[in-house]
Amino acid sequence: MNESSITPCSGQCRVTAQSATVGSGIGRRTFLAQSAMLAAITALAACGASPADSLTGPTLSSGTTVQLSSYPALASVGGIALVTIAASPFAIVRTGVSTFVALSRVCPHQGSIVDQSGSGFLCPNHGAQFNASGSWIGGQPTGNLRSYATVYDAKAGTVTIS
Ligand code: FES
Repeated sequence: MNESSITPCSGQCRVTAQSATVGSGIGRRTFLAQSAMLAAITALAACGASPADSLTGPTLSSGTTVQLSSYPALASVGGIALVTIAASPFAIVRTGVSTFVALSRVCPHQGSIVDQSGSGFLCPNHGAQFNASGSWIGGQPTGNLRSYATVYDAKAGTVTIS
């Protein structure tokens, strides 16, 4: 990781003190490499974030079935519907004729609710961007949106999310 790739957040972050002991017997190159790594870790810790932020979103104790006819956007491949399941914000994405992705819209960085943006998602808080599969693709470094298993029932016209 290089330091210039880190996008700091806008000042609502926790700051975590970092320290390191640099031994006197190391060379200049090792010292510079360790310093750069420490600076990167400190910057990420200051934002309360890392590329491996833990996944966020509710655990669904039982499957929730969604009637596709209630969400016209899901009639087409690439369509995205924003739904509420178990009092939490979700997105359902039709990724193929008979395939769907269900995502929590809780941002893994600091828990804001991501909005649909084009064919993916954008967090309004610090700008993390996610593709239609929920993978982080830019902006504030963080993890991926939490995804859930889906079962499509073509005959019933439903998707069950668990
Ligand atoms: S809460 Fe910080 S990018 Fe979403």
